Amino acid sequence: MQSTESAWRERYGPWAIVTGASDGIGRAIADQLAQAGLNLLLVARRQAVLDQLATDWRNRYSIKTMALAVDLSQPGGVEQVLSAAQALDVGLLVACAGFGTTGRFMDADPTQELNMLAVNCQAVLLLSQQIGQRLAKRGRGGIILMSSLVAFQGVPLAAHYAATKAYVQVLAEGLHEEMAPLGVDVLASSPGPVHSGFAARANQRMGMAAQPEDVARATLAALGHKTTVRPGWLSRFLIGSLALLPRGARIKAMARIMHNMTSHQTAKAV
Ligand SMILES: NC(=O)c1ccc[n+]([C@@H]2O[C@H](COP(=O)([O-])OP(=O)(O)OC[C@H]3O[C@@H](n4cnc5c(N)ncnc54)[C@H](OP(=O)(O)O)[C@@H]3O)[C@@H](O)[C@H]2O)c1
Repeated sequence: MQSTESAWRERYGPWAIVTGASDGIGRAIADQLAQAGLNLLLVARRQAVLDQLATDWRNRYSIKTMALAVDLSQPGGVEQVLSAAQALDVGLLVACAGFGTTGRFMDADPTQELNMLAVNCQAVLLLSQQIGQRLAKRGRGGIILMSSLVAFQGVPLAAHYAATKAYVQVLAEGLHEEMAPLGVDVLASSPGPVHSGFAARANQRMGMAAQPEDVARATLAALGHKTTVRPGWLSRFLIGSLALLPRGARIKAMARIMHNMTSHQTAKAV
């Protein structure tokens, strides 16, 4: 994040809620927000990791921090976040918690898919609306929703994950227009592959991938300036190249990419 950090704090502070703050992109965004002097409500499932980060950033950047271990796939998870945020003057929501599944949809575990729907979509819906209402009332603030390269077409072998990200992308685009006159900046961040905990949980192999710190920097720099950011050269290159193709050809290209990323699954099964 460049330039006037105090202007940034003024617009998006004093408190930010970051879900998915224990790892990967969310953790990198939280780190950069801490450096900019925003107080942080950190949300993810792993309490010990969040506690460590909260203490570290509090000591290093003289900010206030709260660490809240919540499973956003479970009933009442979002309510716990809202209740922790009740007394805080929140200016920014970063909804970064999320995960993916891969493999043939027909073989998928429905419980796992429902969990993914709850974290990637339902929690994003509820937090965006509840925190969005508060931001609109105060007439300033921001909401960052974590979309993906996969949001722009169907993706064989990650069909439901891509559908959850299409939901997030379209929600962010609509909210961007709706919230701008209310003084609230809404941004969809749509990275390509990023080195993080994501690939292991999705059981996919990642080749070339961006670093979470670079994705975080580009995302925060785009808030208030764009509707959608494709953070990093790799995202821009991949999304730009795919955008040249008709939608049907994009789906086939994604099928090839996902086949390569998941071929170890079938190799193991034989
Ligand atoms: N990595 C990529 O290639 C990539 C590309 C495009 C978009 N994205 C999106 O970027 C976002 C962040 O992913 P990442 O790459 O940073 O992955 P990551 O390193 O695995 O981080 C995911 C974060 O979400 C949290 N989380 C997962 N399930 C949760 C649950 N049920 N309740 C609460 N928190 C939960 C995790 O914390 P705990 O494990 O502590 O709960 C972690 O902090 C996701 O929405 C993902 O879809 C990732």
